[in-house]
Amino acid sequence: MPKDGLFISFEGIDGSGKSTQARMLAEALEARGKDVVLTREPGGSEGAEEIRALVLQGNPDRWSAETELLLFTAARRDHVERTITPALKAGKIVVCDRFADSTRLYQGMTRGDLRGTVDALHDLVIGLEPDLTFIIDMDPDKGHARAKGRQTIEERFEDFGTDFQHRLRGEFLQLAEEFSHRCVVIDGDASPEIVASRVLAALDAHG
Ligand SMILES: Nc1ncnc2c1ncn2[C@@H]1O[C@H](COP(=O)(O)OP(=O)(O)OP(=O)(O)O)[C@@H](O)[C@H]1O
Ligand SMILES: [Mg+2]
Repeated sequence: MPKDGLFISFEGIDGSGKSTQARMLAEALEARGKDVVLTREPGGSEGAEEIRALVLQGNPDRWSAETELLLFTAARRDHVERTITPALKAGKIVVCDRFADSTRLYQGMTRGDLRGTVDALHDLVIGLEPDLTFIIDMDPDKGHARAKGRQTIEERFEDFGTDFQHRLRGEFLQLAEEFSHRCVVIDGDASPEIVASRVLAALDAHG
């Protein structure tokens, strides 16, 4: 797929600061005069935001793992079609709060290993990876406390517990090695401003 813009994603365990850092990076790039689209997953387009409510709210057992994967993938397809690809073709910088890596790990690790199915579906109907992925890394106990401090009804995935977050952190670091050409691990255990400066330095180093 031809593209001229830059596609950046943020990944990491729950509460690590992805949404905060995605917003701060978008603001920093706008301050540099760049054309930026800040978006998120699941969601980021009208249809995908509707699917977001289906996958993040309600009973944890609402969907089978397979159905859930199809819903996430449908949302991503709409998001890519309607929001990401048009922005990249227009030469913009897309900053996305989570993308396919979250699905690789969450759907790959919970309720049966679906990693192979995730990758097959991705190849079939998505076929797009970020140019650069920032993995915000931090102690899961601190991250969990941060995430739990918020009021939200989107908590289907927030009750897996501390052990899960520790495993998830390991999986994110492994993923950073698997996709080392696009992944940069950022130490997220500092003030939002300091973490943001680390992100910006890594972006500038990337070129
Ligand atoms: N560097 C930081 N130091 C302290 N608190 C932070 C920092 N970054 C974010 N926070 C706070 O921690 C909470 C979680 O941050 P944020 O929502 O950015 O994380 P997230 O990774 O997007 O979480 P989730 O996985 O739940 O989407 C928020 O209340 C946020 O204000
Ligand atoms: Mg978030």
